[in-house]
Amino acid sequence: MSLKLVFFICFLSSLALGYADGNSGKYPIVVSTWPFVEAVRAAWRAADGGFSAVDAVVEGCSACEELRCDGTVGPGGSPDENGETTMDALIMNGVTMEVGAVAAMRYVKDGIRAARLVMQHTQHTLLVGEKASAFAIAMGLPGPTNLSSSESMEKWTKWKENGCQPNFWKNIVPQDGCGPYHPKSNADLTEGECFSSNLMGVVEPRSSLVGLHSHDTISMAVIDKMGHVAVGTSTNGATFKIPGRVGDGPIAGSSAYADDEVGACGATGDGDIMMRFLPCYQVVESMRQGMEPKLAAKDAISRIARRFPDFVGAVVAVNKNGVHAGACHGWTFQYSVRNPDMDDVEDLGLITEDNVGQELDPNMAKMGQEDHKGNTGQKGHLGHPIEEENMATMGQDDQQMKQLDHPPGQEETESNCCQEMGQ
Ligand SMILES: *[C@@H]1O[C@H](CO)[C@@H](O)[C@H](O)[C@H]1NC(C)=O
Repeated sequence: MSLKLVFFICFLSSLALGYADGNSGKYPIVVSTWPFVEAVRAAWRAADGGFSAVDAVVEGCSACEELRCDGTVGPGGSPDENGETTMDALIMNGVTMEVGAVAAMRYVKDGIRAARLVMQHTQHTLLVGEKASAFAIAMGLPGPTNLSSSESMEKWTKWKENGCQPNFWKNIVPQDGCGPYHPKSNADLTEGECFSSNLMGVVEPRSSLVGLHSHDTISMAVIDKMGHVAVGTSTNGATFKIPGRVGDGPIAGSSAYADDEVGACGATGDGDIMMRFLPCYQVVESMRQGMEPKLAAKDAISRIARRFPDFVGAVVAVNKNGVHAGACHGWTFQYSVRNPDMDDVEDLGLITEDNVGQELDPNMAKMGQEDHKGNTGQKGHLGHPIEEENMATMGQDDQQMKQLDHPPGQEETESNCCQEMGQ
C-alpha cells in the first residue's frame, strides 16, 4: 500500500509541518484530513483510473460515508439535540469554480453525491434541510432513509439522562438542564461570570463539545491526471448540536477550497469558529501570493488561534506542484496522502513540538507505523486532554476560560490516547 499518513500533535500552540516529496508535477495526488485510509484508497483508484478530480473526490468521500468513518461522516452518528442525524457535504470544482453543497439534509445518506447533483444540475450552490432531501431523492438518490443507528440513539439517550450536558447553548436558563431554554435576562448577564477577555479581545468560553470526537469532517483534495483540482467534504456535523445548526462543512472557503491555478485546501475542527475565518480560502489565496503550503497552512490557523485560543482545528494544503502540508491547533491532527511516487510502505510520522516544521525522518515514520497499523478507514484515537493544552497555552491567569467539561465518558479515553501517542 502506498499511502502516507502524517500525524500532528499540537501541544502548546499552533504547529505546522511541510512535506515536499520531490515529485513535483506528478499526478494524481489525493490528500485527506484524518487517516481515512479506505477513503483515500477509493479516491486514488478513481483518479489513477482516469476519473476527473471531481469524480475521484466523490468516490473518496462516498467511501467514508459508507464506512461511517469515525462515526462523524455518513449516517448513524452525531445525533443532534433531538437525536436526529443529518448530512452536510460540499464539492468544489477548481476548474470552473462551481460548488454544490447540501446542509442539514435529512433522510438521505449520500451527502457528497447530493452535493454533486446540486453542482451538476442546478445553478445554485447550497440547498438545505428537507428541501435538500427532496431534491436529492427527486434526482435519484435513495431515501427517505432513517439516518439514526442504535449507537447514535444510545449516545443521545445517555446525553438526555445526563441533563443534556454538555451542550452548545450559552447565556440561557436553565443552564444545568434540558430545554426549553430562555435567554438570560440582562441583569443575569452582567452578573454572569462567563465573560472573560484576554489581550487579544473578547473570547467566548467554549464548550467541551468542541473538537475531539464530537465533529470531524472528511475534507479531501484531489489533483487528477490532467492536473485539475477538486475538493469535497462530508460530515454529519457536531454531536448534540442545536437542530438547524450548519457548520463549516458545506461552506466553500471554510472546510475546503480549490482553484486550478493554485491548489487546494481542506479543513476540520471547530466549524462554528472556523467558518468565521474562511481558513481554506485564506490558505489558497496565500499560496496564490507565493506562500509555501506549510506557511500558508500555519498562517491560516494562527489567524484563528489569535482570536480564539481555545479553538481546535487543522488545515491541510496542497499546491499544484504536489507539495502538501498541514497545520493544527489544540488537538492531534493527522492527514493522509497518496501520490504515484510513494513506495509500498505506509509511512506514519509522529510530529511533536520538537520536530515540527522539519522533514519527516523516515525512521521515525516507521516507528510510528507500529502503533497505528490497524487503521483502515476508521480513525483511531485522536486528541489528547484539551484541558492540559489550554493550561499550557494560555498561562495561569486565564483560569476561568479553561473550564472545559468533557462529554461523559470521553475524558479517560482521551488521556489514554495521549499517553499512547506520546510513547
Ligand atoms: C430510526 O432508527 C433508530 C435506530 O435504529 C430507531 O431507534 C428509531 O426508532 C428509528 N426511527 C424511526 C422513525 O423509524
